[in-house]
Amino acid sequence: MPQPSQVKSKQRVAAHGEVFTAKREVKAMCDLVADECNRIDSRFLEPACGEGAFLAEILTRKLAVCKQKYGTQLLRPDYERASVNAVMSLYGVELLPDNAASCRERLFAIWNDAYTKNCGTDAHDICREVVRYILSVNILCGDALTMKQDNGEPIIFAEWSFIDGSMVKRRDFRLDKLIEANEKQKGNCIPVEDGYVGYDWEKKEFFPKPIQPEYPPIDYRRLCEHGRS
Ligand SMILES: C[S@@+](CC[C@H](N)C(=O)[O-])C[C@H]1O[C@@H](n2cnc3c(N)ncnc32)[C@H](O)[C@@H]1O
Repeated sequence: MPQPSQVKSKQRVAAHGEVFTAKREVKAMCDLVADECNRIDSRFLEPACGEGAFLAEILTRKLAVCKQKYGTQLLRPDYERASVNAVMSLYGVELLPDNAASCRERLFAIWNDAYTKNCGTDAHDICREVVRYILSVNILCGDALTMKQDNGEPIIFAEWSFIDGSMVKRRDFRLDKLIEANEKQKGNCIPVEDGYVGYDWEKKEFFPKPIQPEYPPIDYRRLCEHGRS
């Protein structure tokens, strides 16, 4: 199979360091964390994701696990839910809007191909819309260094968790605060709380606080109703 080009133009390499990782290297690196790549809900962030070389490989591996577990006609609803869960677990930040859009399209195409093959006549456009929506929330155009989106707002990621059957709880977090909580923990900081970083006195741990108000649990097939507040 011909490999996609790793370079779009010399100008983009010079301006943005845009050289995409070749498939062989991507696979070899994913092999180093193979167990995590095979866990359907294990979360990954590709911080300068380009067209999503790593996210695409991880999604492909997760979907293979979904197929192994739920690949029969009888289990099609379980396959659908698990494959949506796989998409929910993948996050990306990319500076250039065209790359961010290509990344979303690439991940959607991988998911949709597997979904259509596995679910056949039980595949629904409503689920396709939900996956497009999740990708619009999870793959953001922004600067991974300043942790701001291209509109100047902080990068916010949604934590999606299946809590009961088909019900999903969404909690939003600022990326800079997720990192700050982690840094404070490592740095043995004095436990001072603010609106975004809390401190658990029993566990002696800093933790990131979700943005308020939180979203009420909702059936995953109705996630698009959340919109982006
Ligand atoms: C070396 S490429 C790697 C892309 C992808 N991770 C891969 O392995 O194929 C670096 C990518 O980071 C993007 N980039 C450069 N600076 C960035 C920044 N501050 N924040 C987010 N993305 C950035 C570039 O546009 C480019 O797509």
